[in-house]
Amino acid sequence: MSEVEKIYEGKAKILYPTEDPEILLTYYKDDATAFNAQKRGQIQGKGEINCTVAAALFQLLESVGIATHYIDRPAPNQMRVRAVKIFPLEVVVRNIAAGSLCRQTGLPEGKILPQPLVEFYLKNDELGDPLLSSDRLFLLELATKEQLTQIQEMALKVNDHLREFFWRCDIILVDFKLEFGLDSSSRLLLADEISPDTCRLWDSQETDPLARVLDKDRFRRDLGAVESAYQEVLQRVLAQI
Ligand code: TMP
Ligand code: ASP
Repeated sequence: MSEVEKIYEGKAKILYPTEDPEILLTYYKDDATAFNAQKRGQIQGKGEINCTVAAALFQLLESVGIATHYIDRPAPNQMRVRAVKIFPLEVVVRNIAAGSLCRQTGLPEGKILPQPLVEFYLKNDELGDPLLSSDRLFLLELATKEQLTQIQEMALKVNDHLREFFWRCDIILVDFKLEFGLDSSSRLLLADEISPDTCRLWDSQETDPLARVLDKDRFRRDLGAVESAYQEVLQRVLAQI
């Protein structure tokens, strides 16, 4: 792998080219960052776990007609994906108030939202991934109106299916972040990853607000037992898929 020149190295993944320009190989790392990489660490086994969970969830979404970049998983921490031009947007869907929504609005953590909230953040670490208004999004020409509508509809559909799936795993899908891209035929595909790094997942059988956390918030907030939480999510996902 290391002899092949990487195309891009992100905080949690490395992208390699393949012989087919339409296909990329993604290598999931154990590296963990938070707060726009101001906090760095490692979560042992995370690469394999996130790759396995993301592959399972992409396949689930494909099976209900949601187009994703997923092709296959040639190794436990490697995923082959369709090459896409990524929209520089972090699309966050929230079912329950947590994280920056609580910090920025004063809503209490755990409040069930009357309907899922879809938000767009600019994918730019230097600027701190700011929340965008739709006017700012169009001003920056980040997507057309039609693309934004399509992204929003797809994000809500992903939420419906993931929420139901995780519920069967005794996990509450609090919120999550998605990324989208266009393939060479300008088809909109769900890209990046869906994993305990990019979702807030609460154990539905646990009422203690710290003990119920099964996602990257354990790392962000120094709650301990990070690896075992990721393992727990993996086991529950594999048992239900
Ligand atoms: P937030 O409450 O910090 O805005 O996060 C909302 C969701 O998005 C949460 O599930 C974590 C996820 N997320 C990422 O995947 N990457 C990020 O860079 C950030 C800030 C959040
Ligand atoms: N992924 C982001 C970072 O590394 C933020 C986060 O997940 O909290 O900085």
